[in-house]
Amino acid sequence: MLNAQRITHALRQTHRIGKVVHCFEQLDSTNSEVFRTSDLPEGAVLTAEFQTAGRGRAGKVWHSPLGENLMFSVVLYPSCEMKRLGLLSALAADAVADTIEHFTPYLADIKYPNDVYVQGKKLSGILVEARTQGQRQQTVALGIGLNVNQTVFEAELEERATSLRLLVQDELDRNEVLIDLLRRIDARYEEFVQGQWSGFLERWKQRCQIIGKEVSFLYASKPYSGKVIEIDEHGYLWIETDKQRLCYAPTDISYVRY
Ligand code: BTN
Repeated sequence: MLNAQRITHALRQTHRIGKVVHCFEQLDSTNSEVFRTSDLPEGAVLTAEFQTAGRGRAGKVWHSPLGENLMFSVVLYPSCEMKRLGLLSALAADAVADTIEHFTPYLADIKYPNDVYVQGKKLSGILVEARTQGQRQQTVALGIGLNVNQTVFEAELEERATSLRLLVQDELDRNEVLIDLLRRIDARYEEFVQGQWSGFLERWKQRCQIIGKEVSFLYASKPYSGKVIEIDEHGYLWIETDKQRLCYAPTDISYVRY
């Protein structure tokens, strides 16, 4: 079981992430719990050993066995334009990739916008959800699932998913992995708050390896494709087709293939 006291103690020197940590045995979804709970300070972290209705992107379900992996949400109150919210998933994916590289000898890739892979197998997914009051006031649940100690996957996932434990052939202490990841999120979120996006944005773009590639994806449930010419400072994808240049928010597209 994750230990809230140990985690907050280890994070006592962060700027704002992890000063308050609530570890639940079971929730429907840690993201849902964020929006149900009032008075959570910015940087509060809610973890669950098991989720009965874990959500993924594009309406998918996020399954994870009891007590083996990390499933958590970080509460944020960014006062930025809504256009910038996609950068939160970029900073989180970049932080997750660094944590994976810290605990394993492998390089981590990001599949735009925010799935994290090692050697073609997915280890982590990120779901950023926001409830907005006005143009600049928003509560964000930055939800992260990271496969840490899972060794058995359902048949259809076996070829496509892995965990830190499978990569290093050893069980890991989930508290240590969470503490490392939250420290990295804290440092990047501080840059985000100060408007210094370029550090994590450039690393994220580098890890996505999407610029110049032909992509296909779903936008408003319809298929689109084209060549990626740029990811801009909001994390938006610029696509060129035969006829025109178009741009898409990372939060609006799904099933990105390249
Ligand atoms: C995806 O890859 O589609 C995103 C998965 C995000 C899963 C995490 S687990 C913690 C948080 N709570 C949820 O219900 N979902 C996110």
